[in-house]
Amino acid sequence: MSKLSQLLCLAELDQKQLSDLLELALQIKQKPEQYGSALKGKSIALLFEKPSLRTRVSFDVGINKLGGHSVYLDQQNGAMGVRESVEDFGSNLACWCDAIVARVYSQKTLVQLAQSSKKPVINALSDLYHPCQALADLLTLKEHYGDLSKVHLAFVGDGNNVCHSLMLGAAILGMTLTVVTPQGFGPDAHVLLKAQVMAEKSGAKLTLSQHVSAAAGADAIYTDTWLSMGAKADPKQVENLFAPYQINTAVMQRLAVKHFMHCLPAHRGQEVTSEVLDSDNSLVLQQAENRMHAQNAVLVSLFS
Ligand code: CP
Ligand code: NVA
Repeated sequence: MSKLSQLLCLAELDQKQLSDLLELALQIKQKPEQYGSALKGKSIALLFEKPSLRTRVSFDVGINKLGGHSVYLDQQNGAMGVRESVEDFGSNLACWCDAIVARVYSQKTLVQLAQSSKKPVINALSDLYHPCQALADLLTLKEHYGDLSKVHLAFVGDGNNVCHSLMLGAAILGMTLTVVTPQGFGPDAHVLLKAQVMAEKSGAKLTLSQHVSAAAGADAIYTDTWLSMGAKADPKQVENLFAPYQINTAVMQRLAVKHFMHCLPAHRGQEVTSEVLDSDNSLVLQQAENRMHAQNAVLVSLFS
């Protein structure tokens, strides 16, 4: 596959690059021993402005499995933009590291890091996107359904970073995606436009709705927290507004949807019930495992 230069947003990839990346992730998952030296001699900074379990551990362990070395930086020893500017942070990290994986409050910070470091930057979640999550989700769906252009995914909840990356991924690959959000919590207009332009090219079907019934007949329903890290909405108000959007057994049965997906962490009893989250048709742990394989495919294609 063609070499990647960064991954700030899935819209940087065309259909072939994204499909190749998923194929590579499958290969790495099936034959990890063939990739044990892919990152030999490479050091990767893992820079986190926000908490993380899955992203931090899957990158750290994944880099190790590829023969590379990771350095974890939280914000305890000098926050970016506080002790020194984002640009100075980036240019200094580039003196020692071959790539920067960053979880940040603002997508702009990723752009500043990429410009100042002249080393590949990978988005490990921002206010706008979570591309590594969407790659793992697409990989998970590919494992179950094969041809993604025949898959109908429904995202129900907040039109957030995870929703945005799924919209872009679905649009690139020609999938069917129904996005169901309460009024006022729909996806960002610019991201929607970007996805619609790509959907026209690929034949993807993107539908927006405020009614959970629009998810009927989907292959999988995906939900995420109603309140993302850094979001400023009032939790009580959000809980009331989003309550009708909870995914529970009755909803899964009424809409005749088989699979359940969530990026985690989940808030049991809010966006999803434990019964659905822990059910045999829940794909959440497969998604979590696939984070590492998908990210390793990104890393391998940065350095190959
Ligand atoms: N899904 C995900 O990104 O999890 P973390 O916030 O724990 O990294
Ligand atoms: N939308 C969530 C995803 C967490 C992995 C957030 O940004 O907090």
